[in-house]
Amino acid sequence: MIQSDLDLFGPQPQRLASHTVLLPGFALAQVERLLDALRPVLRAAPFRHMRTPGGLHMAVALTNCGSLGWVSDAKGYRYSPTDPVSGEPWPALPEALLDLAGRAAAAAGFDAFIPDACLVNHYLPGTRLSLHQDRDEADFGQPIVSVSLGLPAVFLLGGFQRSDKTRRIALSHGDVLVWGGEDRLRFHGVLPIKPGVHPRMGERRINLTLRKAG
Ligand code: SIN
Ligand code: FE2
Repeated sequence: MIQSDLDLFGPQPQRLASHTVLLPGFALAQVERLLDALRPVLRAAPFRHMRTPGGLHMAVALTNCGSLGWVSDAKGYRYSPTDPVSGEPWPALPEALLDLAGRAAAAAGFDAFIPDACLVNHYLPGTRLSLHQDRDEADFGQPIVSVSLGLPAVFLLGGFQRSDKTRRIALSHGDVLVWGGEDRLRFHGVLPIKPGVHPRMGERRINLTLRKAG
């Protein structure tokens, strides 16, 4: 039988490791909804360059929404219920993000994912994110859902030691990467963003990282 379902030819999920799945274009149909939801978040909690424990400023500008937000300062990395700039609770996690995160996690094989934290990272051309593990969350049994918007990026997917070989994964506007389970503590990072102008997002990349932090 000849299949006429055009979805057959759409981008298919790619398993990159036992518990790491790239969902190409998974967020594309939701981009306007996500941007509408992010606008008030960014008004209440604008992007800022946080200090690292070593005293430098992070190259990536960031903000958060959700009941917990990831922060960095002289005292270290941690989650905080309040925005250190305003002293107010972080803006609530918009329904559009909760919904997307749950559906993406399920598509990658992680059921009933309900994030309580969304880190919003802002990259300009040239900005990179060095190799790190996400280990400030309470329960490493919970996956991570990462949504890419704007300029393309090369994501480095490493092993469990910083020195392990890394794989280069191309991430485009609307792609969602999900990792958890055995892969939850893999080192990962982002190569410097190449100069460019994205037709919808301009000269930037925005990454939404949804986690269950508490
Ligand atoms: C992160 O590891 O926090 C962000 C990864 C990304 O920007 O793709
Ligand atoms: Fe990370």
